[in-house]
This record gives sequence, C-alpha cells and structure tokens, in this order.
Amino acid sequence: MKNTLYKAAIESGKIIKEYFEGSFKIESKDIISNLVTEVDKKSETKIIEIIKSEFPNHNILSEEIGALNTDSEFKWVIDPIDGTINYAHKIPICCVSIGIEKAGEIIYGLVYNPIDGEMFYAEKGKGAYYNDEKITVSKENNLRKSLLVTGFPYVSKNCPYKPVESFSRFLNMDIPIRRLGSAALDLCWTALGRFDGFWEYNLNPWDVAAGYLIMTEAGGKVTDFKNEKFSIYGKEILATNGLIHGDMLKVLQNL
Ligand code: IPD
Ligand code: CA
Ligand code: CA
Repeated sequence: MKNTLYKAAIESGKIIKEYFEGSFKIESKDIISNLVTEVDKKSETKIIEIIKSEFPNHNILSEEIGALNTDSEFKWVIDPIDGTINYAHKIPICCVSIGIEKAGEIIYGLVYNPIDGEMFYAEKGKGAYYNDEKITVSKENNLRKSLLVTGFPYVSKNCPYKPVESFSRFLNMDIPIRRLGSAALDLCWTALGRFDGFWEYNLNPWDVAAGYLIMTEAGGKVTDFKNEKFSIYGKEILATNGLIHGDMLKVLQNL
C-alpha cells in the first residue's frame, strides 16, 4: 500500500509541476472565489487510476469526484491539489494530500509539494518523516513566543464560528501568525516544527486526513476546539506541539 501511495503522489505531482509553469483552465465552484483548475482534475484522475489498478475494491473519497464506495474497510481520502488558489496564482505553496483509512482509523498519510519537492509521510505507529528524515514537533512551551498558522473558510459571513475574532485575539497578544493557504501543508509544517500551532474551522476530510496522522506521529496533539477527540469529518481542528495546546484552547474559547 505504501508503494502505491508514493506512486500516486509522485505521478500526480509530475502533472502538477508540469502545468505550474504553463497555462491551464480555471473555473469557480459553488462560489466565485472557490476555484478548481483542470490540473486538480488531471491530478485526481491519475491518483485514482493508480489506486484502482492496485486496489480495485478500496473506497475513495476525493475532493472533486466525491465518494466511490464499495464495501471495503479501506478508504483513500484524497486532495488532488491542496492550495488551489495558490496554484492558480502561481504561488508554490500547494501539495497533493492522500490519507488511507482502515476501519475508520488513518493508517498512512502522505503530503507532497511537487514544486519544491518537500515530502511528508507517516505510518500509524511508525513515526512521521520529512524527505525520509524522522521529524518531531517543536519544543516551544510559551504561546507568546510561538509562531502560529491558520486559514479562513471560503465563506465567513453567517459562519457560526467567527474566524476573524479568534484571529484578532491571538493578534492582540502580539503573537505572530501566518496564513499559507494549504491546510495540509499547515499541518505538515507544524509537524516539522516550523510552526508551533495551527487552527482552522470548516475544513474537509481531504484537507486534513494525511496531515492529521503526520502531526500525531510527529508527537503533536490534535483536537477540536473543546479539547475533544479529533475527527477528519468534524469542523474544528487545533493541532499543536502539545505544549501550547491548553493556552491556545483558552484563546479559541475566549476564556
Ligand atoms: C483549501 C486550503 C486552505 C483552506 C481552505 C481549503 P483547497 O483547500 O486547504 O488552506 O483554508 O479552507 O478549502 O480548496 O485549496 O483544496
Ligand atoms: Ca484542500
Ligand atoms: Ca483541493
């Protein structure tokens, strides 16, 4: 399964990199700012073709095509390009993200940015890796000395969670915050220790399936905003080095 996972990421990565330098069609999805490019679709087709050639009975959940279900206990959760808006604007912060679930538990995760070649991989119980080197989260225990990263939902108006309010609470504590535009890379860069904590509301399973495992295998902590068990099908994600988790929860809960 690991070989197929790598093959799917590398082959789709070749397509993403090739088109990055040239031109490609861009369309809007449900709202005008939520984009999909022809490369998202080509990347997805390639990934699914490779998975189906080796595991024809496995379930698929992929952003553009949706769910392809059989009665398998395995499910490949795919984002063919995470960071599509970056990609469409030729900003090289984007990736392929593939997680594999077995009986509801993520057992493999791979996130690959084909533009700069950064590859993140984890297997349940066997650690997380950055370009084949084992990685761990940062050791920063002071929230005020931390570097955080977040993202915003495509639609913020009428959202029950107010992303700007929590963002401004961290900002008012003089804490530096970045916004990369790829949730999968936000998680991986936190797993690598570049960031100390990441939070976001309203992500989808394909944004977080692989990054969640990479974070936890790197020793990080991932929960919802109430400190309850994280699910890739839930709406909230707080992913930290563990040491600043409690302090970030207080800010998110406005305590
Ligand atoms: C998006 C990115 C972004 C996050 C959005 C996601 P996409 O995925 O992960 O960082 O803020 O909510 O939808 O659309 O580029 O695959
Ligand atoms: Ca995504
Ligand atoms: Ca996507």
